[in-house]
Amino acid sequence: MHLIDATPVYAPVLARLHAAMFHRPWSEGEFRTLLSSAGVLALLAESEEAGPVGFVLTRIAADEMEILTIGVRPEQRGEGVGHLLLKHALAAAAEAGAAQAFLEVSVNNHAAVALYTAHEFQITGTRRKYYLEFINNTEKRVDAHIMAKGLTGLGKTQ
Ligand SMILES: CC(C)(COP(=O)(O)OP(=O)(O)OC[C@H]1O[C@@H](n2cnc3c(N)ncnc32)[C@H](O)[C@@H]1OP(=O)(O)O)[C@@H](O)C(=O)NCCC(=O)NCCS
Repeated sequence: MHLIDATPVYAPVLARLHAAMFHRPWSEGEFRTLLSSAGVLALLAESEEAGPVGFVLTRIAADEMEILTIGVRPEQRGEGVGHLLLKHALAAAAEAGAAQAFLEVSVNNHAAVALYTAHEFQITGTRRKYYLEFINNTEKRVDAHIMAKGLTGLGKTQ
């Protein structure tokens, strides 16, 4: 498995991956715009056998890094790719001077909450009815946890 800094030319790859992971896909154009924006870093995980398998997209503003999204293809989940992506994204943000990382995650997304908790994120708040999710074929508004973690002491050299 290796990680690539995904520049805007990777927009079609990230859009295809995103569509395989989420109910509401982001378009190639949205990815191109995001990947061209200041402070945005995307890491793409690629394996020799399977090709592109997952990515993480982050944005640094002032001294805060936000995880905009992270995902792994369903076929490759549970193999440590999420861990790898998150670890390197956090280290890159710390190297770039971010002091804190935060994100929002659905309270129903147990795999993602467990991943963030394993990386020492803590729940710091709630955004009520933040996501629209399909539950029993019905769209429902679902709360999001706000999770945060200090980055002091993290870095590629650690
Ligand atoms: C969340 C996600 C990125 C995890 O990726 P992954 O490659 O499967 O994760 P890993 O194999 O590296 O596992 C990392 C940790 O996540 C947690 N985890 C992963 N899958 C889990 C599951 N099905 N149930 C509970 N915890 C799980 C565990 O803590 C695991 O650590 P451990 O194996 O040391 O116990 C993946 O499930 C995914 O793409 N989900 C859909 C997209 C999504 O919801 N993204 C988050 C948006 S906020």
